[in-house]
Amino acid sequence: MEVVIRPNAVEAADLVARVIDGEMRKNPCLVMGLATGNTMEAVYARLVRMHTGEGLDFSGCRTFNLDEYIGLSNNHVNSYRHYMNRHLFLQVNIDLQNTHLPDGMASDLVAECAKYERLIAEHGGIDLQLLGIGQNGHLGFNEPLSAFRSRTRVKILSPVTRAQNAPLFPRPDLVPHRAITMGVGSILDCRHCILLATGEEKAAIVAKAVEGPITSMISATALQLHPECTLILDEAAGSQLKESEYYHWMFENQPEWEPFRTASSSAAKNGFQSTPHPDKQLLKQSRTL
Ligand code: GLP
Repeated sequence: MEVVIRPNAVEAADLVARVIDGEMRKNPCLVMGLATGNTMEAVYARLVRMHTGEGLDFSGCRTFNLDEYIGLSNNHVNSYRHYMNRHLFLQVNIDLQNTHLPDGMASDLVAECAKYERLIAEHGGIDLQLLGIGQNGHLGFNEPLSAFRSRTRVKILSPVTRAQNAPLFPRPDLVPHRAITMGVGSILDCRHCILLATGEEKAAIVAKAVEGPITSMISATALQLHPECTLILDEAAGSQLKESEYYHWMFENQPEWEPFRTASSSAAKNGFQSTPHPDKQLLKQSRTL
């Protein structure tokens, strides 16, 4: 696992978008795993700007979303299909036929889950999986106690998750009770995972996910087992990490991050300048000792 801490949420989302951009340019037929939630909106907005302003081409890529609510139709404003169409798919040149989400209205949900897994396998698996994190550490809708070998299946949503997602619904009781989600095992099979977390309210769960013991009570701890997983955080979400100095040092010294160390002009234009981390001078000194 690698942890990258950027000075603010704009730069964190910008870095995620730039990594995706790099992967898409290397492989125009990239199979991408996508996530929903407030945190991802900034990433999708940046990808849309990269498409319109910098020619980022989505025509060859295929996407699979992590999850979908059961009982909401595609055009329901709270469905994840609606979210994806609105924030990304209808604003870029992706073929909607190449965008996949589980069907939360399927009459046979078990068959739908098996079909989704089969479809991912037929596409050769997911190259790059984007992830957010829930307040209880869920990935997708893998609620506490999800087996690390679980595959796409129906999950009942915990009270914490329903409360977390309630502000997006007209009334809290309208939040669905169940969802179809890719399993923790399905996520661990993706070639590269990138988790984005921003804001103070994610700090405690991020610290547990990164530095805590691996436990099925917190699905995100499974990422410690993934051979290629990158967590991109802003300072607020990384504020409870004990080893943040080490993570900053890694980012400054890994050659792979070299092109990404300065904020893109677009992130800077949003009013944020990359400021040196206070620990940076200390790290420089310790390296010369
Ligand atoms: C939902 C999604 C998760 C996402 C989470 C975080 O629960 N199923 O995939 O990670 O929201 O949302 P936010 O970014 O709004 O905190």
